[in-house]
Amino acid sequence: MTIAALAPLYLWIKAAHIVSMVAWMAGLFYLPRLYVYHCTAPVGSEMSERFKVMERRLLRQITTPALIATWLFGILLVLTPGVLAGQHGWFHVKLLAVLLLTGFHGAVSRWRRDFMEDRNTRTERFYRIANEIPTVLLLIIVVMVVVKPF
Ligand code: HEM
Repeated sequence: MTIAALAPLYLWIKAAHIVSMVAWMAGLFYLPRLYVYHCTAPVGSEMSERFKVMERRLLRQITTPALIATWLFGILLVLTPGVLAGQHGWFHVKLLAVLLLTGFHGAVSRWRRDFMEDRNTRTERFYRIANEIPTVLLLIIVVMVVVKPF
């Protein structure tokens, strides 16, 4: 199913999609980095309380709205006539990587809640490794959607 009225807006929707995904990725890159440093701040300290404010604002005011906008404009692109015409194996691999990225967003939210409630038990090393996950998924997503190899 496609919506004919979207066709003249294709490039505007794609531009909005790319801007939203850049903001989403910025939050998914920065939050685990904050957690790496938050691990070094003693529970209840001024530094730990400041990290809590930064993490809450980054997640609620940027990262989550950007996730919603990326999905919204992505779905509008799928509904635009001609975008998924012909073979689009690339889109299936992209969507799987995007679902994993959305799952990672969920994990990042759960980790933030643990810090909020002063019950984080994960290490700096854990968050440094976790920080690589969105990088790998971003590479897969962009190669699939730009190169469209199959
Ligand atoms: C959330 C669900 C998503 C859906 C349903 C979706 C769907 C799409 C569709 C249908 C296109 C148009 C392809 C074309 O014009 O040929 C597109 C373009 C694009 N998408 Fe997504 N996308 C999603 C998420 C993402 C994410 C998370 C990223 C990056 C992290 C991303 C990066 C891009 C890029 C860079 C383009 C432009 C490609 C080009 O101009 O050649 N998308 N997306």
